[in-house]
Amino acid sequence: MILDILIVGLGEVVSPPCRGPVRGGEMSQLKIKKDVNIGIKDGKIAYIGKEKPLSSRVLNASGLVALPGFIDCHTHIPFTGSRGEEFLMRLEGRSYMEIMESGGGIFSTVKSVKTASEVRLFQDSLKLLVEMACHGITTVEGKSGYGLDEDSELKQLRVLERLNSSQPLDVVPTFLGAHAFPEGFNSKKEYLEYLLSFVDKVKEYTDTADIFCEKGVFEPEDSKPFLKKLKAKGFRIRLHADELASSGGGKLAVELGAVSADHLISADEETLKTIAGSSVTAVLLPGTSFFLRERYARGDFLIANNGIVALASDFNPGSCNIYDPLMIMHLAVSHNGLKVEEAITAYTANSAHVLNMAHRKGLIEVGYDADLVILDLESYRELPYMFSRDIIVATVKAGRVISG
Ligand code: NIG
Ligand code: FE
Repeated sequence: MILDILIVGLGEVVSPPCRGPVRGGEMSQLKIKKDVNIGIKDGKIAYIGKEKPLSSRVLNASGLVALPGFIDCHTHIPFTGSRGEEFLMRLEGRSYMEIMESGGGIFSTVKSVKTASEVRLFQDSLKLLVEMACHGITTVEGKSGYGLDEDSELKQLRVLERLNSSQPLDVVPTFLGAHAFPEGFNSKKEYLEYLLSFVDKVKEYTDTADIFCEKGVFEPEDSKPFLKKLKAKGFRIRLHADELASSGGGKLAVELGAVSADHLISADEETLKTIAGSSVTAVLLPGTSFFLRERYARGDFLIANNGIVALASDFNPGSCNIYDPLMIMHLAVSHNGLKVEEAITAYTANSAHVLNMAHRKGLIEVGYDADLVILDLESYRELPYMFSRDIIVATVKAGRVISG
């Protein structure tokens, strides 16, 4: 066999201990290989070792560090429009929820997305994916939820599908019709029933659904029957849970056997323990805590209680205009109590698990997808310290250098 590419001289090749889900103390047990070469064939990792098998192309990566490409398992792509003014309003004392309740916030982006043409929504989001690739991201989740009606929700799902096929990153869609309660319905129940009326069409694009389960949005009593019906239709379930108030979303995630409970910054100890003892992945989003100037979820407590923890950006125009995984990891280490090793497992193997891709993504192992990020660091341990420097040398996606 002749390899397509051989990346030679890597100082450190760093990979989580095993495929996701990785729990508790095991999250910090990274596998580290020193001074090795990585061979790639047909988009897959085909060789890791000290030999130099025959290859059509050789890339010199002398002394550099390789990690699995970052997997952002929670963003709100596709969107269009800016909410920069809202950011300033919050600095003047208005809260995220107040702004949303007065018709801004999520509703402001809903207006932009509803009125944007499909081509505009595609082009604006494509630009974001190109930027994300430069930051070492190789797979990204995106959600609907800025449409809140059948046509506009399906428009976003079509855009996600088209984004997936028009550029190198894998784009994984989620249905978030239950993102906010729009005008024109008598009750939340009536709106959620309306969403259920077109989920068969949604199913053509995705098998995963999410809900903003939050005090003042969809409370657990609204969310539970809705999510149960989605589950019965074969959807994997995720929840925005216990974000701004302790609202019961985390416990509901466990009760329903959800894939993930995301945010959790307001979750109490009992909720965190319940999640940690279950198969639900806690997706921590410290960029949102930073951007909204809120508290940070207790990642160390979840891990001490043997939980499964993933990290993601929550990149969206309102609560977190940040997609940089290095910054998110810096925040996770500084404020969520994660060790750098845990942050790496959280952004790779465990994020792959949330997206149902752990069998082929999130590790640097023979047979896995050749999605890598190559960093100019002495060691991976410098990552949270060097996060804002120009350290990304290359992003490799399915064996091709897509940035760098
Ligand atoms: O995860 N919390 C709900 N949804 C997003 C924010 C979306 C927006 O503000 O546009 C979040 O923070
Ligand atoms: Fe979110």
